[in-house]
Amino acid sequence: MSRFLDACYRRPTDATPVWFMRQAGRYQPEYRALREKYDLLTLLRTPELAVQVTLLPKPLGVDALILFADILLPLEPLGLGLRFVPGQGPVLEHPLRTADDIARLQPYAVEEALGFVLETVRGVRQVEPRLPLIGFAGAPFTLASYAIEGGGSRHYRRTKALMYARPDAWQHLMAVLTQVTIDYLRAQVRAGAQAVQVFDSWVGALSPGLYRAAVLPHLQRLFAALGDLGVPRIYFSTGTAGFLEAVREIPAEVFSVDWRVGLDAAWQRLGGPDRVAIQGNLDPIALFAPPQRLRAEVQRVLEEAAGRPGHIFNLGHGILPQTDPDQVRRLVEWVHTHR
Ligand code: CP3
Repeated sequence: MSRFLDACYRRPTDATPVWFMRQAGRYQPEYRALREKYDLLTLLRTPELAVQVTLLPKPLGVDALILFADILLPLEPLGLGLRFVPGQGPVLEHPLRTADDIARLQPYAVEEALGFVLETVRGVRQVEPRLPLIGFAGAPFTLASYAIEGGGSRHYRRTKALMYARPDAWQHLMAVLTQVTIDYLRAQVRAGAQAVQVFDSWVGALSPGLYRAAVLPHLQRLFAALGDLGVPRIYFSTGTAGFLEAVREIPAEVFSVDWRVGLDAAWQRLGGPDRVAIQGNLDPIALFAPPQRLRAEVQRVLEEAAGRPGHIFNLGHGILPQTDPDQVRRLVEWVHTHR
């Protein structure tokens, strides 16, 4: 039995499960050593290596593994040309700049185009059948923002301008990205993923009204289309404390929240412990505090959860590359021994 999966379904557990957003990555010396030999896309596209990276956080004592992949991989088969530029992050070489660019987009055969990811899922399950494996994908808005801006963005000017000016083109783009994401996540579960998380990292850039009108219906369709898989569905977002009442309308088992809202308040606004599980909330920067100060923050999150079934300890956003792995190890220990 798994603490993580039990908590997703709000069943009681012997201790609070814990894992970390972006736990397989650059804060680990073992990962940096691999990156000296291989570039990021090679690591991502070589199942043998991706399996190895997925397993790296295991010695930290985490209760779940997250697949080593990237939310942007599904943009590549759409012809957008994905590259990772050292020091700059991801770049789409052929961003979507006009309504015509968007009109040409069509869903594609995910199993073929992204077969290497499915191979990684099967590989992890074979090597580590005990720890649950979380599959994931980017949410349609967050993917669209990269596709349109051509990379990260501060204001999402082009993306939001398109949403306001060309709702028809926006609808088509969201429909294609939603369909690709449904196919991709269903394929991951068929390959062995035991939970799925949808990352809406940047959706907090929107107003409540725009979120509700232009994004929420697509998320509802996406999550509903995963409902028969029999695995917990996790919706992760940041900056959404202003409209959790809209987020609540997504049919998910688990909602992951950032640190800009209290855990208990967020849980209530998302439907409460009788309806959904809650994940996240610790500020990733708290890991840079002295151990006793970090411990107080961890304690605060656990006290807000108050031992109610359906709490998964995690950060409010990804772990930063400069994080000390010893702090991570301590944190896991404190969460597991908390009573
Ligand atoms: O635990 C894990 O990290 C699993 C694998 C994983 C990666 N990306 C590998 C990766 C996951 C879950 C992601 C998700 C992802 N990718 C998100 C959503 C999560 C979030 O933090 O909001 C986003 C927005 C991306 C897009 C992306 N990929 C960015 C912005 C960057 C560069 C900056 C950064 O965060 O590192 C990447 C590169 C990337 N993807 C790295 C890794 C381990 C850095 C790798 C390196 O340079 O070696």
